[in-house]
Amino acid sequence: MPKQPIRVELSSTKKPKPQSDQLEFGKIFTDHMFVMDYSIDQGWYDPRIIPYQAIPMDPASMVYHYGQSVFEGLKAYVSEDQKILLFRPEKNMERLNRSNDRLCIPQIDTETVLEGLNELIRIDKDWVPDAEGTSLYIRPFIISTEPYLGVAPSSTYKLLIILSPVGSYYKEGIHPVKIAVENEFVRAVKGGTGNAKTAGNYASSLKAQQVAETKGFSQVLWLDGVEKKYIEEVGSMNIFFKINGEIVTPELNGSILEGITRNSVLELLKHWGIPVTERKISIDELIEAHQSGELEEIFGTGTAAVISPVGELIYHDQPYVIQDGQTGEVSKKLYEAITGIQKGTQPDIFGWTVEVDSVVKQA
Ligand code: COI
Repeated sequence: MPKQPIRVELSSTKKPKPQSDQLEFGKIFTDHMFVMDYSIDQGWYDPRIIPYQAIPMDPASMVYHYGQSVFEGLKAYVSEDQKILLFRPEKNMERLNRSNDRLCIPQIDTETVLEGLNELIRIDKDWVPDAEGTSLYIRPFIISTEPYLGVAPSSTYKLLIILSPVGSYYKEGIHPVKIAVENEFVRAVKGGTGNAKTAGNYASSLKAQQVAETKGFSQVLWLDGVEKKYIEEVGSMNIFFKINGEIVTPELNGSILEGITRNSVLELLKHWGIPVTERKISIDELIEAHQSGELEEIFGTGTAAVISPVGELIYHDQPYVIQDGQTGEVSKKLYEAITGIQKGTQPDIFGWTVEVDSVVKQA
């Protein structure tokens, strides 16, 4: 697929910008967005940056009925020397195409979309917040648009990228959260769509999350969908445990999302010489490790929260406190290392950050 030229139409008005230190997650959007369309005859065509606006959709559009859609999430940060840095954006593009494959959505040319993303951020660069703990959250997504009620892959699609200046995802920030082990609902099963970033996975997680919140827990710990025995994810994040000095995370099994923060954590731990294993881990093994005093830390990893320590686990109504409810050493070290690389305050030893050219090209 050849890279395509991107057309730019700038907005004639500018929205007021929020104060950087009062940002919530995902509620405010910038002045522009990237759009590209797909048809069987033309393939992906007309990549363009246009003013942020509502999109006209036929009510019969397939996405509304059968949920054929995929999305990504990544962040841009402003460094102390005013450079705008993206964190491993090519990994999001690769995963978007893997999700596309699973949902029967046509592959995208990742170079065109990355170029569109760069250009969009160049144009909306003044929206990248700089207060501690803030960033510009980038949401690429694809929806099926054919007006047709038959259950089949759509013949037309729209890819969009929208940008949102954000604060921390969880109100707890880097402070430990309380999670409940989910025994009734499941997130995904092997052979399903758990390893694709598709809307339905998040829709089906809501009920468990809602029940957990009414009981005073922040998130749920998901077990495998067959035996409800092996740990898979936490909330919308991957999960790690420190047991007797070793870090363990569930191995990718077809129902777990391959997180980019998960991968970065694995690389950093290996680089630091901290033993880390990807394997099956059962809830029984975890409870035993807690009882024998070997469970030292639990933390979730994801783009939105980066590292989210777990201070307490509730299993069959029994609370298990981790690390006296405090943030563990490894969680802290990983949070500082990853956010430091993302913001350019720590050396980028793996070459993970990509600088957005700050020159705005006019249409
Ligand atoms: C993440 O942790 O990055 C997520 O995927 C959460 C997102 C759906 C807001």
